[in-house]
Amino acid sequence: MRDPHRPTFHLVPPSGWLNDPNGLGQWDGVHHAFYQHNPDEARHDRIAWGHATSDDLVHWRHEPVALRPDTPADADGCWSGVLVDDGGTPTLVYSGHREGELQQACLALGSADLRTWRKHDGNPVLTAHDDLPDLDLTVLRDHCVWREDGRWRMLMGAGFGDGSGGALLFDSPDLRSWTYAATLASSARRAEPDTGSAWECPDLFGLDGRHVLTFSAWHDDDLIHALAWTGHYEGDAFTPDALHRLDLGGGAFYAPQSYRDDSGRRIMLGWLPEARPEADCLEAGWAGVMSLPRELTLRADGTIHQQPVAEVATLRGAELSGDDIAGDALDVELRVTLEEGGSVRWRVRGAAYELRRDGATTLNGEPVPGDGQVDVRVVVDHSVVEVFANGTPLTTRSYTGIGEPLSLEAERADVTVRAWEMGPA
Ligand code: FRU
Repeated sequence: MRDPHRPTFHLVPPSGWLNDPNGLGQWDGVHHAFYQHNPDEARHDRIAWGHATSDDLVHWRHEPVALRPDTPADADGCWSGVLVDDGGTPTLVYSGHREGELQQACLALGSADLRTWRKHDGNPVLTAHDDLPDLDLTVLRDHCVWREDGRWRMLMGAGFGDGSGGALLFDSPDLRSWTYAATLASSARRAEPDTGSAWECPDLFGLDGRHVLTFSAWHDDDLIHALAWTGHYEGDAFTPDALHRLDLGGGAFYAPQSYRDDSGRRIMLGWLPEARPEADCLEAGWAGVMSLPRELTLRADGTIHQQPVAEVATLRGAELSGDDIAGDALDVELRVTLEEGGSVRWRVRGAAYELRRDGATTLNGEPVPGDGQVDVRVVVDHSVVEVFANGTPLTTRSYTGIGEPLSLEAERADVTVRAWEMGPA
């Protein structure tokens, strides 16, 4: 029997486990998404790199496993990293994992079609032990790598002995030897939003005239949530303006990575972890979903706007009418106008939402932009529900309400609804 919780138009592993997106990029027009993968079992162990390609960001082809933990430098796992173009050679920069040690930076060199990878003989190319001043590190892993002023620069995620997290900056002439430049950003744990005791998967990029530094806040194996600093990056310094949550669903959207596609869009994918018990995942034979690709822009007020890439709408099939919006693969648009004190509640595929206007406009109690005018997009794909309220996302995993019809109640609010069945990708 088909697992009723397995998505049909999100990227999922053919079988086994998936976590972080890795090595995202567009190469000769083709979108590549590598990911943290255990092909053998639906749990996090002996992590390899899975690989999928797409011409349109919605139809994904599974490619051969790209990296496996099979050398001394990555004996227990090939952890997260990125894809860069080293003078025409596709090159993966990733974190070699050995049980009980801090991870170390490794390289793998690819064939022109990105299907065959050879580990660099000189791995590891950076270890906390040999290549760093004493920073009292508790965590060092994950990579963001770019060219700047004729050299390579790299960020790695870090945790420090005093319980703070941050991102370290390194320089290299050739990707093969690295020197520490600076601690680009760091913060002590704090209540709201909590930046964790380590930052995983840092990603730095320009967006609409500012810089954005995304990272995932981690504490004691708790995946707290994905965050973003907006600010200004120059030289060895990042000057922050504000800290933003990337998804109101907390750890339901984690470890995002982004890239600039050929059309100039900033596209981000994140990992949507399972929320059901490990035993259920092992029985189902798969675990972990990639979010829909999201296009990022900056709003005029400096906050981050996210929406599914336009290509997602190409999967829309029959339009469903008012009373008949049911199914496990749906794309729903709600155009909402709330009077002061007004609210709209809806429930779909076992997940419940409330949009209110009490002075501020909120979705499930969290502020969203819009002064009572809210364009809501609800994308349902079996156990995944991704909601975007004026470009602010809230991701949920749900294992109940199979096939239940959309229910909607409005008080002192005007709502128009359009909905489509979503074809499988
Ligand atoms: C984030 C993360 C990364 C690490 C990878 C291991 O989810 O913990 O920090 O590289 O997953 O799979």
